[in-house]
Amino acid sequence: MRKALSVKLLLTAVLFVALNNLNAQTNPRTRVSFNDGWKFVKYFNANNESATSDKEPAGLESPALNDNSWRTLDLPHDWAIEGPFSDTLENNTGLLPWKGIGWYRKHFVLDNDDRDKRIYIDFDGAMAYSEVWLNGKYVGGWPYGYTSFRLDLTPYAEFGKENIIAVRLDTKKWDSRWYPGAGIYRNVWLVKTKQVHISYNGVFCTTPEIKKEKAVVSVSTEIENHLNTPEPVTIKVYVFKLDKEWKKAPVLVSVSGDNTALIPAMQKHTFRLDINVPNPVLWDIENPELYSAVVSVSGKGEVMDATDTKFGFRTLQFTARDGFYLNGKRVEIRGVCNHHDLGALGAAINTRALERQLEILKEMGCNAIRTSHNPPAPELLDLCDRMGFLVEDEAFDVWKTPKKRGDYNKLFYSWHVEDLKAMVRRDRNHPSVFIWSTGNEVNDQNNPALSESLKAIIKSEDITRPVTSGCNWDESGTNGFQKTLDVFGINYRLYRYDAFFALKDNDNLPFHSSESASTISSRGEYFFPVVEGDLNNNLPGKGIFQISSYDLAYPGWATTPDQQWTMQDKYPGVFGEFVWTGFDYIGEPTPYGGDLTGLRPGTRAYERAKELLDKQNVTEVPSRSSYFGILDLAGFKKDRFWLYQSKWRPDLPMAHILPHWNWPERIGLVTPVHVYTSGDEAELFLNGKSLGKKKKGEYEYRLRWDDVVYQPGELKVIAYKDGQKWAEDVMKTTGKASKVSVSPDRKEISPDGKDLVFITVKIEDKNGLMVPRSNNLLEFTIEGPGRIVATDAGDATSHESFQAKSKKAFNGMCLVIVAAEKGSAGSFTVKASTKGLKSGEVKIDIQ
Ligand code: GAL
Repeated sequence: MRKALSVKLLLTAVLFVALNNLNAQTNPRTRVSFNDGWKFVKYFNANNESATSDKEPAGLESPALNDNSWRTLDLPHDWAIEGPFSDTLENNTGLLPWKGIGWYRKHFVLDNDDRDKRIYIDFDGAMAYSEVWLNGKYVGGWPYGYTSFRLDLTPYAEFGKENIIAVRLDTKKWDSRWYPGAGIYRNVWLVKTKQVHISYNGVFCTTPEIKKEKAVVSVSTEIENHLNTPEPVTIKVYVFKLDKEWKKAPVLVSVSGDNTALIPAMQKHTFRLDINVPNPVLWDIENPELYSAVVSVSGKGEVMDATDTKFGFRTLQFTARDGFYLNGKRVEIRGVCNHHDLGALGAAINTRALERQLEILKEMGCNAIRTSHNPPAPELLDLCDRMGFLVEDEAFDVWKTPKKRGDYNKLFYSWHVEDLKAMVRRDRNHPSVFIWSTGNEVNDQNNPALSESLKAIIKSEDITRPVTSGCNWDESGTNGFQKTLDVFGINYRLYRYDAFFALKDNDNLPFHSSESASTISSRGEYFFPVVEGDLNNNLPGKGIFQISSYDLAYPGWATTPDQQWTMQDKYPGVFGEFVWTGFDYIGEPTPYGGDLTGLRPGTRAYERAKELLDKQNVTEVPSRSSYFGILDLAGFKKDRFWLYQSKWRPDLPMAHILPHWNWPERIGLVTPVHVYTSGDEAELFLNGKSLGKKKKGEYEYRLRWDDVVYQPGELKVIAYKDGQKWAEDVMKTTGKASKVSVSPDRKEISPDGKDLVFITVKIEDKNGLMVPRSNNLLEFTIEGPGRIVATDAGDATSHESFQAKSKKAFNGMCLVIVAAEKGSAGSFTVKASTKGLKSGEVKIDIQ
């Protein structure tokens, strides 16, 4: 993908250059990755707070400091993902040492030729409370770790010699309800421009007119003049159609006229150009067709700047009683919420890891992402544009009233305007972004005026998308808070749907489930008897920190997917849902999150946690990652994947049986069998004998044979739709483990140092069936120029390091994430072995 992307950009540039009779060197702007070769040191390790030797010394920003002994690394970097896990830390933030103070330094040279330029550093995100110095002088910083920001290095830059940039991050000041990661965990860019240039995120493409024969793209461009003289500036825009496959050259489809203005000394000016585009091809989730607006800035006979902004033509229409329309077609939002961590890779952004997540979600029928509860890495939005996902782009988990002592409440008054504007300005060109969300379950749902003011800030930057907020107060759909939102979002609370829809006031207010289900399960774990409901009924027993995968367990505020769908099907006004969550994430291992750390005695959270601990008869809980995911932390499918697929891809013939059928201790015992199918009826067979046909009734989404008596052998289901055979699935009792299988998601890898291959490792019997209850200790080795980046088996209770080269399989499976050595060629071989079984290996070609 990256290869295709750079080719495309190059072609765009070439075309642009040809058009202007320029040579490639004449675009004065350069924007290069600034990720490589940083020095790093960490103080106040959260595991070791009191150690005085671990105290942060003064003067770490000084150019005179010798940082030779600091660790050398490339960004993006999450300093906490290497652990170790520790029971002294909070389960809810992953038992990982993310609290601390981290310093990064980079030595770099600026050419003499750059002397007249402006030099900027763009951080896509740094966790948290960043402060930046250049050559010992303070430049600035940004406290909220999820916001992308730019700093101007020009005043302190030295030319023709070495510069030293120093970045201090402080996560001790930050509190989070989930694992936030720590460090410069997103990409960093060095940008050089002329003194007159396009502002940071200064181009905004809107599409005020979209008709079959003609559309209009309105391109507004903010230009900064840093000179002491007024400057004449001319803007011209070239519109290109991009190839959906990202293989062919962009095609020029329209060129604007010139727009000229004199920009006063040290001022900004915004230009607006409307450009007609004939026969526009629309962006939608099936055919995510993109265009690009190349803005060229010239003055005094020379090119001053040029940038390339992707956008799409699509219409959004939110109705109160008939759902959401994309390009005039009703689309049900089948979305998931995700936190930003990438499992074993931690919070450090990796484009391929994100792309893999989206590929898996697409297979499930998911068409939308809510970036809970903060602005995402920009790469996520690029991927959503290209792969066809809609995005609810969310700003905050907290406004002014805290959820935790050091959360966003500390920043709210000084920073919320800047943070909101930064989010909108960065993300407003993405056709995937269809809703802005001001927050999640904020504790200010009694303050409509505040909500109104946040909406106004967003509208000051973009009026083309509605604003929502994920509400969880019983009264927020009826107390007037809802009227401050363009689109109402409710988290869970199915019992409030009737009241919302009954209220006349809400007749024109579109409605969606901004957060749904929160069903919990551990992949491959099943507990008996099978019961439905709140956790009190569902905890498997003392000392077991897993959750049954019959998909019937949820915390008090939550539901099964089935209950959610019942309400959605009853109320066509609900335009869809965002399930909590697509993937398991680090931290928040509800119901085993309760180690009481950070909880105030007397609060509901404390009492709930205490009750659970008492029930388990323990004081320490091993769990460090969530159970909410439809996919586990390794990205492996839990049973729920097929439940969602059966509802979200009704035209895909599929059937899925659960549980596995290896229960030697249950011979003769009732062992319920559930089937998820996109069909409407199915017949189940055990060892060839029919156990009866079942048909889905109204508001029924799974078929259940709850009185099956276990006998080893073969379960088979034949599903029907409208009376016709539709799909089948088989689940067999396996033989004993005999070999290790390895299947990579791709057999080729780029040696760019970032590309990853995800290898699924399974313990199998001699017939190639995965042995579901095997937990063998696996060893991974590589021959050739590759390296193991991370391993994970998806067990929320494992304290094995994510970087370990050996790992226990969890219920038959494990994931190995590998990269090629940077700049290498040829191939490498990954081998997975365990004592007593035949090993598996696979060759990965470096291309
Ligand atoms: C919601 C909250 C999420 C997560 C979820 C777990 O109420 O918005 O952030 O905590 O509960 O069920």
